[in-house]
Amino acid sequence: MLTALDLFAGAGGTTQGLKDAGYRVLAAVEKRSDAVRSFTANHPEVGVLEQAIRHVESRALRTPLELSVGSLDLITACLPVQSFSTLGRKDASTSRNDLIAETERFAREFLPAAITFENVPGVARDPRFECLRTRREQTGYHDFRAYDVVASDFGVPQRRRRLIASALQVGPHGALPDDLGTIVPDSLAVTQPDAGEAIDLAGPIEGTSDSLHRARRPTPLVVERSRAMLPGGNRFDLPPHLWLARHKRIKRKGAWAPYGRIRRRGSAPTMTTKCTTPSCGRVVHPTEYRGISLREAALLQTLPQSYRFVGSYGSIERQIGNAVPVRFEKALGFAVKRCMGSAREGRAA
Ligand SMILES: C[S@@+](CC[C@H](N)C(=O)[O-])C[C@H]1O[C@@H](n2cnc3c(N)ncnc32)[C@H](O)[C@@H]1O
Repeated sequence: MLTALDLFAGAGGTTQGLKDAGYRVLAAVEKRSDAVRSFTANHPEVGVLEQAIRHVESRALRTPLELSVGSLDLITACLPVQSFSTLGRKDASTSRNDLIAETERFAREFLPAAITFENVPGVARDPRFECLRTRREQTGYHDFRAYDVVASDFGVPQRRRRLIASALQVGPHGALPDDLGTIVPDSLAVTQPDAGEAIDLAGPIEGTSDSLHRARRPTPLVVERSRAMLPGGNRFDLPPHLWLARHKRIKRKGAWAPYGRIRRRGSAPTMTTKCTTPSCGRVVHPTEYRGISLREAALLQTLPQSYRFVGSYGSIERQIGNAVPVRFEKALGFAVKRCMGSAREGRAA
């Protein structure tokens, strides 16, 4: 079984996906206590260090795992979006916020066969992204690719665009494909998964025994706005008296603050850290006059229906929005596994 280390582990979406792809996650690092408690509720077999990563000694993590240098298969780092804000600046190497550099410490200590990073696509256009590539190449990861992917191409009912950077220790010819989708098994690359199907799994909210199947109480205005929008509709369907204050401030044609109703067919919008708050996204339920519930949001992230969360409503909402969609991580895990296989064969030849 392949082994993995999950940095910036959150509530464990990445770990769930890797486990589903057949990896054994040996340890995780996460600084937020609620997220750690959620992680542990679902993955009790994985040791989680509840610390800011800069306080975690990479060797002190490797030694108890009894892993020799080079024997770990994968380090995955789902960096918070702000991680790139200091990368490449003059003071980046000394900045306490340089989470890329922190990840590098672990890469150098463990020398895993592969490393994957996840972030938002915009970073690929940032010249500082090249620093990451250079740092990887300097430590022997000659096959480095950045993939701009949409989660719905990997069986997730959500239009979530992400940048995946993968680095593999291989010879000069590499093993990573140009298009990640070409090496994902067909069973995972379901096209056009429907948001409605995922939402329906939660069942009726009335009388539910699922403590996560609860939504923000809709105000009379939310109900009125929801009634005024058809599924798939957005704030342009609203008559002016129902506009949010910030809608009124937006003058520029084409610019719009998000507000909208999920369509049953096709993908839901990206789940964010406010994924159940109608005034912060297009997350009104397709057929009911309320925002989606925490469970419905978790299902759109393809987390298992029994997945547990710990914390206040707002904390759980953030943990769900932060999660990597499980089906997507599973597909990525499979793809990396296949590439590692061919890289090893290439090295043996
Ligand atoms: C995008 S989320 C990762 C989500 C996770 N992979 C999942 O699928 O649930 C980034 C996580 O990094 C954590 N984080 C941010 N800065 C950190 C630091 N300095 N040390 C450790 N964890 C940190 C955040 O609390 C957050 O849970």
